[in-house]
Amino acid sequence: MLAKIEQLLQEIDGLTAHSAEELEALRIKYLSKKGAINDLMTDFRNVPADQKKAVGMKLNELKNKAQERIATLKEAFENQDNGAAELDLTRTAYPIELGTRHPLSIVRNEIINIFSRLGFTIADGPEVEDDWHVFSSMNFPEDHPARDMQDTFFIESHPDILLRTHTSSVQSRVMEVSQPPIRVICPGRVYRNEAISYRAHCFFHQVEGLYVDKNVSFTDLKQVLLQFAQEMFGPETKIRLRPSYFPFTEPSAEMDISCDICGGEGCPFCKYTGWVEILGCGMVDPAVLEANGIDSKIYTGYAFGMGVERITNLKYKVKDLRMFSENDTRFLKEFESAN
Ligand code: PHE
Repeated sequence: MLAKIEQLLQEIDGLTAHSAEELEALRIKYLSKKGAINDLMTDFRNVPADQKKAVGMKLNELKNKAQERIATLKEAFENQDNGAAELDLTRTAYPIELGTRHPLSIVRNEIINIFSRLGFTIADGPEVEDDWHVFSSMNFPEDHPARDMQDTFFIESHPDILLRTHTSSVQSRVMEVSQPPIRVICPGRVYRNEAISYRAHCFFHQVEGLYVDKNVSFTDLKQVLLQFAQEMFGPETKIRLRPSYFPFTEPSAEMDISCDICGGEGCPFCKYTGWVEILGCGMVDPAVLEANGIDSKIYTGYAFGMGVERITNLKYKVKDLRMFSENDTRFLKEFESAN
């Protein structure tokens, strides 16, 4: 009889039930009037008197254990039921707030999209650069005052290492490892040592473009920029090019677009000129091609560079540059629909 009790004890330890029916079947098998434990209770009468105490204790243990085990299994089912009852099926989606894309990312992506459709691919390069890629290869002579045009952050212990002041460094990196035809845009963050105000920051973002091939002319440059301006600011947009100076382009120009607030009539936004400046451009100086391993007798090229903040300001009329880096969600949420 003791052996039988031991066997049942082990059996009960391993009991599982996957449904209420299975659980009820277990209850009947072990705990009902005709169940295994009751059968043992009946047999208990025949146990010799000197063993009654030991067998009786064991039998009680078995009964308790069976009751406990079945109660635990039952509880597990009931908990599951409770969970289902708490689930509110009338509720809509969980109130998970989706983030919004940063306005500068939105505009950068739009610029990239337009130029991708014109056949430009994206090139990337490091923000911590060396003097060669930022200045020397871009035709800034040593000690030339042109280096002062861009207030540079240098790494103190390594005067040759600096934070790039423009993404022209990526143009240099592309040219030194490839031969024309080259048609790339270089989006990225740049740094300049400027006092932070509503109109200047110590870092901002640029997209520069470079096209080098046989017979590339200023006309090609102008046409691509017109296409860009009209895609970005609307088909009525006009452009004008004013002569300018950059060490790495010759001739150089600055491009204005017709003010999209007054349509060129003149308003406070364009300071009553009807035009707003958006980018710098020009034909790549042959000295730059040569410095980067491209034969300037065979190839010509154009380059342009624009500030993403500037374009974003024009498109969305953000008056204070600092808004872009403050991460104020009230500002960022304004761009939800532009995502
Ligand atoms: N690198 C220039 C700047 O940062 C912009 C530019 C790029 C101008 C290419 C002309 C051609 O100001």
